[in-house]
Amino acid sequence: MNIIINGKDVAARKGETVLEAALREGYDIPHLCYHPALKPEGNCRLCLVEVGGKVTTACTTTVRDGMVIELDTEEVNKHRRTVLEMLKALVPKSPILEELSAKFGLGKVRLASSDEVCIKCGLCVRVCAELVGADALAQEGRGTETFFNPPFNEPSPDCVGCTACAFVCPVQCIKYEKTDDKITIWGKTMDRLRCTKCGASLDLTAEHMELIKKRGTNLHPENLNLCDTCSRAETLRTMKTVVESQLTLS
Ligand code: SF4
Ligand code: SF4
Ligand code: FES
Repeated sequence: MNIIINGKDVAARKGETVLEAALREGYDIPHLCYHPALKPEGNCRLCLVEVGGKVTTACTTTVRDGMVIELDTEEVNKHRRTVLEMLKALVPKSPILEELSAKFGLGKVRLASSDEVCIKCGLCVRVCAELVGADALAQEGRGTETFFNPPFNEPSPDCVGCTACAFVCPVQCIKYEKTDDKITIWGKTMDRLRCTKCGASLDLTAEHMELIKKRGTNLHPENLNLCDTCSRAETLRTMKTVVESQLTLS
């Protein structure tokens, strides 16, 4: 199917969102709560576009054949600046918000500043539940009073120390500590497993390994027990054996 972005015909795939089609075509739409591997929720409100004269979030709008989308109208930019102003008032020291504010011409923030560090995008909760499968984080409260933490703000028994939440956080406000043998995140300290060949510490905890086994994903636990160097050496050894056996047969 075809959609029209800023007057140009663009090929779109059935079921994808306006944001996905636009990003694939190289258009630049600011987005903080979108991740290609997670279901969109439209929390940050930054990816605004105009569809049929109505301002809406691109990450939650599914394409339709012939859909007419404008990315840079006065209305879009006005609404985006309002959203940015609210986010900047909430998290005044975020470099990414600083950068976006300069890009979209946001002047002085007129709202009272808070000392928050989280923009309430919800990506941490979603990656933990949807991708990692640990479901260790919860959303409490509403609006600017929303908090994303382990339930009851206590170290979660379900956290496996994978640090995926810190990795996806767009404002890098989830802190963790890694030593040679431990990972500490959300107040919980876990042991890092060691490579079964050379003993180097792995970015994997026993809790995470257990979860991977329990979920039966296509990640093979036996391959995860090796560090990158030993894993590469193992692959080369396997390839060598395969090639040698083929040569013997021929
Ligand atoms: S570190 Fe813990 S809370 Fe964060 S994604 Fe992994 S399991 Fe979830
Ligand atoms: S901690 Fe980071 S990822 Fe989680 S809601 Fe806040 S800004 Fe988003
Ligand atoms: S990326 Fe669309 S609302 Fe956040």
